[in-house]
Amino acid sequence: MEFILDTADLDAVKKLDELLTIAGVTTNPTIITKSGKSPEDVIRQFVDYLRPEQKFFVQVVSTEYQEMLDEARYICDLRPKNTYAKIPVTHTGYKAIKILKSEGRGVLATAIYSADEAFLAALNGADYLAPYVNRMCNYGDGIGQVVDLLQMLEAQELNSKVIAASFKNTEQVHALIAAGIHAVTVPPEIAYAMIGHPGTEIAVKEFSANWQVAYGRDSLRS
Ligand code: E4P
Repeated sequence: MEFILDTADLDAVKKLDELLTIAGVTTNPTIITKSGKSPEDVIRQFVDYLRPEQKFFVQVVSTEYQEMLDEARYICDLRPKNTYAKIPVTHTGYKAIKILKSEGRGVLATAIYSADEAFLAALNGADYLAPYVNRMCNYGDGIGQVVDLLQMLEAQELNSKVIAASFKNTEQVHALIAAGIHAVTVPPEIAYAMIGHPGTEIAVKEFSANWQVAYGRDSLRS
């Protein structure tokens, strides 16, 4: 399973990259606009920072077919490998996905709100499918839809990976990891929430205090 960060904040990525096994970074146009940096600067800093094996996902902005294709080609050419164009599953997007896959380019189908939208993008050859979990929950059983999607891909022997996105709490992430999701992309604050149980800090303080009382020092070695 791939654990990916959904952010344009390079400092946050660097910090979490030291703590956890980060498989890559996703961004979208809104995330980039909130960074306070130019899109060129955001893209360049991640191209420079990410290790070759880490994946980078950048979304096209244009809704016009030819420009969408050209943006996607620009994105895919940013690095020698492991760089994917995020294409929203509009009618134009489905058409673009077919062409981009015929060119052998990496594609993530995004802005997915139903298992059916995702499944048809998988038939078009998309490498990754990004259902917007929390937003889907606003319409109904978002988690159930994504679990259905996993079963649909397996039943139909399709190789697209599901990268669940748009999380608002750790319970949503937990439910999909338990269900066998292929990848999740989470904002840094959710990654920290997953490793921030207060009981851990309390337990460590207790160990240190007991050690200090018994041996008068705070390390294993004297
Ligand atoms: C990720 O690839 C998506 O663009 C992102 O998770 C959407 O999240 P949001 O619902 O918080 O905008």
